[in-house]
Amino acid sequence: MSATTKTDVVVLGAGAAGMMCAIEAGRRGRSVVVIDHAQAPGEKIRISGGGRCNFTNLHCTPANFISNNPHFAISALKSFTQHDFIDRVKARNIAFHEKTLGQLFCDGSAREIIAMLTDDMREVSAQLELTTAILEISRVDGGFQTRTSAGTWQSQSLVVATGGKSIPKMGATALGYDLAKQFGHAVTETRAGLVPFTWASNMHDSWGSLSGLSLDVHASCNGAAFGEAMLFTHRGLSGPAMLQVSSYWREGDSVAIDLTPGTDLAAHVKAERASRPKASIWTALGEVLPKRLAQQLGNEAGETASRLADLSNVAIEEIVAGLRNFRIMPGGTEGYRTAEVTLGGVDTARINQKTMESSLVPGLHFIGEVVDVTGHLGGHNFQWAWSSGAAAGRSA
Ligand code: FDA
Repeated sequence: MSATTKTDVVVLGAGAAGMMCAIEAGRRGRSVVVIDHAQAPGEKIRISGGGRCNFTNLHCTPANFISNNPHFAISALKSFTQHDFIDRVKARNIAFHEKTLGQLFCDGSAREIIAMLTDDMREVSAQLELTTAILEISRVDGGFQTRTSAGTWQSQSLVVATGGKSIPKMGATALGYDLAKQFGHAVTETRAGLVPFTWASNMHDSWGSLSGLSLDVHASCNGAAFGEAMLFTHRGLSGPAMLQVSSYWREGDSVAIDLTPGTDLAAHVKAERASRPKASIWTALGEVLPKRLAQQLGNEAGETASRLADLSNVAIEEIVAGLRNFRIMPGGTEGYRTAEVTLGGVDTARINQKTMESSLVPGLHFIGEVVDVTGHLGGHNFQWAWSSGAAAGRSA
């Protein structure tokens, strides 16, 4: 294709948000072209949730999102809710289940969600242009010109749905942020979110040996707290609790971890002292905590005064308090290489929260992860993609 083709809407990015937007715009009778440099649409959907896609969360509310403007997401989330998406999944007969904490996963495969979206796009004749490089975007009379390796399109509306920077190996680029700047929008600082922590160099050898060990904890950082599982890895700390707090963590911060939430640990240790006074406190703790962890904590504490009989109530309570408020200073995070999301993005100040349209450039929209709205772990990021995509699709 060499000539310029006219269409109502060009959507950049065939991810969750871009496809949802194309469907909604197509249902309004708009002609839509979705352009992506990937070989297949919805690649992040395909790999999400271990291949089963945690497509939404039953308990999704605006409180599950991080943004410079915490109110921004309210309108879109309300006008296309998790229940609206669940209705579509049910209508398509995709079997699903709640895994935990309201998180909904496909019973079968994430590919079923992608097939639902691509079929819906086909039904409204939305055109999908894959393996297409986006070369230049400019404003022309009455809209936008999108020059690509597959030809040039002129459209009244342009929807930027190119996602964040996470997992560059899968085709993530900064195109959306660059376009935002090109059109005069501010972009807030971006950083990796929902990402494993790495050990500080002085912890690597001793703590890395606990790799594979997992336990339920209560973790907090900068005012946010999550009670979920924590996983030790060779490189550092992962698991849902750590991924969640990583979105609130800044370099130099420590993470506070309650290693025994909901347990009366002091009472347990005192009872052990009465029944086997010669045992070490770390042996006693190994009945509540994973043994290898208790052993490692003992190594860190040193061998002095560890016999239960030698410990006063005050000493026991001090040790227990240390485990309830165990502080780790991560060396860093694994960064965009493995992050599930990108925090920050296109500043919401100049975006209409009902339509996702720019207030600086009429017809220009930003949706999904490229916007400064980032969800907690558990299906909230896809819900934001569906909700913001639907909002733009009803207006673009
Ligand atoms: P998305 O990244 O999906 O799509 C952007 C599209 O733009 C891509 O197709 C890309 O190829 C294209 N693009 C980018 N730059 C381009 C360029 N220069 N030219 C052309 N095309 C370009 N969330 C959740 O709610 N539940 C879950 O289970 C998971 N699981 C999960 C696992 C893993 C491993 C990751 C990395 C992420 C998740 N997420 C998640 C997060 C979720 O995948 C993410 O928030 C959404 O996919 C964002 O949707 P978008 O459509 O905004 O971007």
